[in-house]
Amino acid sequence: MYFVEFNIILSSCLYFSDAFGLYGLGNGYRFFVRELNSTFGVFDSSPILTKWIRQPLDHFDQNETRAWHMRYFERLDYWKRKGPIYMFINGEGPASQWFLQTGILYELAKETKGAMYLGEHRYYGKSKPFKDFSTENLAYLSSRQALADFAKLIKAIKMSPKYNESKVVVVGGSYAGNLAAWMRLLYPNLVDAAIASSAPVLAKKDFYEYLENVSEDFEQHGTPGCFDKIKEVFSKYDELFKTSSGIEQLREEEQICESTDMDKPENKQLFFLDKTSEFMYEAQYGSPESIKGFCEDLKNTSQVFSAKDDDSDLWNEKNNCFDYDFDAMIENMRQVDWIMAWTYQTCTEFGYFPTTNSDEQPFTNNVFVDLFFSLCTKLYGHDFDEKRIDEGIERSNNMYGGLTPNVTQVVFVNGDLDPYHKLGVLEDVSYEAPAKIIPLSSHCRDLFSDKAKDPEELKEARKYIKYLIKRWIGAGEYKKPVKKP
Ligand SMILES: *[C@@H]1O[C@H](CO)[C@@H](O)[C@H](O)[C@H]1NC(C)=O
Ligand SMILES: *[C@@H]1O[C@H](CO)[C@@H](O)[C@H](O)[C@H]1NC(C)=O
Ligand SMILES: *[C@@H]1O[C@H](CO)[C@@H](O)[C@H](O)[C@H]1NC(C)=O
Ligand SMILES: *[C@@H]1O[C@H](CO)[C@@H](O)[C@H](O)[C@H]1NC(C)=O
Ligand SMILES: *[C@@H]1O[C@H](CO)[C@@H](O)[C@H](O)[C@H]1NC(C)=O
Ligand SMILES: *[C@@H]1O[C@H](CO)[C@@H](O)[C@H](O)[C@H]1NC(C)=O
Repeated sequence: MYFVEFNIILSSCLYFSDAFGLYGLGNGYRFFVRELNSTFGVFDSSPILTKWIRQPLDHFDQNETRAWHMRYFERLDYWKRKGPIYMFINGEGPASQWFLQTGILYELAKETKGAMYLGEHRYYGKSKPFKDFSTENLAYLSSRQALADFAKLIKAIKMSPKYNESKVVVVGGSYAGNLAAWMRLLYPNLVDAAIASSAPVLAKKDFYEYLENVSEDFEQHGTPGCFDKIKEVFSKYDELFKTSSGIEQLREEEQICESTDMDKPENKQLFFLDKTSEFMYEAQYGSPESIKGFCEDLKNTSQVFSAKDDDSDLWNEKNNCFDYDFDAMIENMRQVDWIMAWTYQTCTEFGYFPTTNSDEQPFTNNVFVDLFFSLCTKLYGHDFDEKRIDEGIERSNNMYGGLTPNVTQVVFVNGDLDPYHKLGVLEDVSYEAPAKIIPLSSHCRDLFSDKAKDPEELKEARKYIKYLIKRWIGAGEYKKPVKKP
């Protein structure tokens, strides 16, 4: 089974893509850990306290009596009177202390004598209102409830007289980047400024643009002929599916289990999604160099190797084969709480389903949005159909304002390699809500630093982001970066 040991690392910015590819999850994780390992040999691990706050199950029912406990971390060793409060919003995964030990929030806190906090999102990590993630129990999982949790947490923290002159800054990446921006939208009196990193603020059902950008990444940064090679390999898969002898050949070459019925349309789609996801992870978490390496491998082998770790749910270790059975995958997903929770949020609020519904990509047209409707209904029940998905997406975009959220003092940061940026704010919403696109940068990359290896563009961007935050909260001495980004 996948991802049990995950609490060590950077949840949100990682989990996000993974739950979105739905399986074959091992790969995104590997890139990320590799990167983190090389990035943070040493980090500052002063005492961090773990605390809990009681939260109502439903913030919008005045008669609510049911409650649960939300976990949060606190680190105060850099805090000095009047210093700001920094709150990291942890997204769809277990809370990670990393964000209070390194990266942009840590640096800001150090430079402005701030208090550091990190809150865990309801239904993830140890902040679970229920043990059993049945559909009925998932009803209180939504971004709107989570925002109310964070508002209550920040209010409680600010009750302390020592913070009577402290500003509040929230930081988040990926889905939690959305939440950071939306905290400013819904609680402008509580939160003074926000960093929304790699935030796909626009909810969208058929997110075919994702693969278009994966494709562009490989075209621009792959080795010569890479794009054509991808096309060739996928066309071959497509061709093989047309005959039963072809399917047998595929079964052999791709180590597909004897028992998996590859004539079933959902299983075929799953095969293509799995093969495609290897490229998605490369685009989302990789770099121009890793994309080139991937191209070299592809050229040498003419095959796309699916992830085979024991954390890949499609690899059947017992029988030494890949099981592309959609229904079996659904049963595996049920075993993992955070996947049940995140997939629920995609089915009820955001979509973000990566289909092949575009000619501007080489992965053939074999992954349809219906596959994801089927996923939603099979996981949560018949009500969770296309109509409900549409309504949820519309509600999110109406409530939060899509690509033009009515906020100020929020900086929207995106990496241009990261395919998610197609649902992000790429143009300034206003002078006080600017967009920053970082060339050659991947998902959430601005949140972590590696002083030795980060490209200049990334360092400049980080300086700029910190400058904005300091200006917005009027913190100590802030200097405008010399080079205007
Ligand atoms: C990352 O570092 C940890 C601890 O040093 C190690 O166990 C792990 O194998 C490393 N992972 C990768 C992908 O390099
Ligand atoms: C809350 O309880 C009061 C009194 O029992 C009742 O009149 C009201 O309808 C309840 N409100 C909600 C939102 O359930
Ligand atoms: C905050 O508290 C300190 C110490 O009690 C006090 O001196 C100061 O005037 C307070 N500031 C505000 C804005 O209330
Ligand atoms: C997509 O990817 C390419 C190549 O990495 C990049 O230059 C481009 O800006 C991306 N974004 C869009 C919206 O096309
Ligand atoms: C690809 O094959 C060539 C020639 O066989 C070899 O020199 C090269 O190291 C291989 N590259 C990779 C990434 O395996
Ligand atoms: C945006 O928010 C401001 C208050 O923060 C409000 O006055 C204004 O009407 C809002 N604009 C829109 C288009 O909702």
